[in-house]
Amino acid sequence: MTPIRGILIGMGALPPEPGWSPLSQTLRWSFRPLAFMAECRRRYGDAFSVRFLGFSRPMVLISDPGAIRALYTESANGLPPGRNLVLEPIVGPRSVLLLEGAEHLARRRLMLPPFHGERMRAYEATVRTAVDREVDSWPLGEPFPIHARMQAVTLEVILRAVFGVHEGPRLERLRERLATVLEETASPRVQLVGLATRRFSGRGPYARFERQLREVDEMLLAEIAEHRARPDLAERDDILAMLMTARFEDGTGMDDRELRDQLMTLLLAGHETTATGLAWTFDLLLSHPAVLARLRDSLAAGEEEYLRATISESLRLRPVIPLAGRRLAVPLRVGDYELPAGTDVTPAIWLTHTRGDLYPEPFAFRPERWLEGKPDSYAWIPFGGGVRRCLGATFAEFEMRIVLRQVLGRCDLRKASPAPEQTGRRNITLSPKDGTPVVLESRAPAGVADPQPSPA
Ligand code: HEM
Repeated sequence: MTPIRGILIGMGALPPEPGWSPLSQTLRWSFRPLAFMAECRRRYGDAFSVRFLGFSRPMVLISDPGAIRALYTESANGLPPGRNLVLEPIVGPRSVLLLEGAEHLARRRLMLPPFHGERMRAYEATVRTAVDREVDSWPLGEPFPIHARMQAVTLEVILRAVFGVHEGPRLERLRERLATVLEETASPRVQLVGLATRRFSGRGPYARFERQLREVDEMLLAEIAEHRARPDLAERDDILAMLMTARFEDGTGMDDRELRDQLMTLLLAGHETTATGLAWTFDLLLSHPAVLARLRDSLAAGEEEYLRATISESLRLRPVIPLAGRRLAVPLRVGDYELPAGTDVTPAIWLTHTRGDLYPEPFAFRPERWLEGKPDSYAWIPFGGGVRRCLGATFAEFEMRIVLRQVLGRCDLRKASPAPEQTGRRNITLSPKDGTPVVLESRAPAGVADPQPSPA
């Protein structure tokens, strides 16, 4: 495809950019992200540049798996400033999501163990209990949005995994406050107002958000102090205790401020994303009765392969995070373009996942395709890739499997409306705009869906 308008940056030309102003591009991206990306793909093909308000340079969006592999496997590539701009006010400057180079790798080494293999089995009962409690509270015969209910489940799971199983008024308040903080930042409108006003005003939505965040901070720091005082700290298996007792190579550990940032990161990254992935999976399943029937049959037969395929297919067709970019440390070849070091480049995850050359009938929800063979690992990137690939990916898929098995085992659900769910933006996610309203037709008592433990 011939570039209509290439952009010159340093010595290299960037792929073409739509002729709309940065304001128009930002608004299109904020309110109709899929239509915006599809339009750019139709006009410019595999790679194009976009310009968002508040960013001094364009961002190049790519969707060719070869280029994505080259981008992600060059570990010297850094982060583009977008991540800091949106996330730093919430997760803090020491967050593993935002650090780079040796500092980043040291945190990953410390933070990965709780999210892998056998460790995760310990969370299985926690997830099942959280789902059962939720399902028991759902009204029969009345519509309710399943996205919000999945948020309640995943928040409960991550809070318990992070802090251990103890209950108390502080955890109760923390649960409530965290949900509010996320709600405050959810709509693109509040985000845009926040970006525009936060430097100039002590009032308005951003100031309220900051107040709530300070309250959450105080609670997190109080939890940390309480944990430090526990005589059984070294024996505890909650994530906070593990982070407190873990040591970097030089023998030091994380201080309280940093612990706060990593906790906030895990609570944020591990909660909204997984809930959104689950809401989309329910939306797709309830809109595709044949797939749902096959999944139910396979679960009843004690099989797990189709469940895994369903989750892969859902995260392909409805990726929760749209972009996971890098700032180039070295030049990158993308088709005819040699992108210079310093360029901000990001895989457009949904565009990659809906390429007809990688996925026949790319817009069809067909878990069977995952039984027929696996695509190139850089053709399926809901969790990003390389040294920054999602730290909680295994945990998220594990949690999704348990929730789906448990809910489908106990509930007969249908969509409240046959209209297809639209994609909206919530925080940094692409989520079901109306929250996927469903109706619970019937419910079996807790216990009937409890399966054999599954491999992690
Ligand atoms: C379906 C659920 C989830 C999705 C779709 C998702 C997606 C992502 C993506 C796209 C990234 C950026 C990767 C990159 O830049 O290459 C990321 C990073 C991260 N995620 Fe997840 N995530 C999910 C669940 C979780 C969970 C459950 C946790 C932890 C409890 C978690 C913790 C993190 C952390 C700490 C990072 C930063 C990694 C780094 O920069 O080294 N995520 N996730």
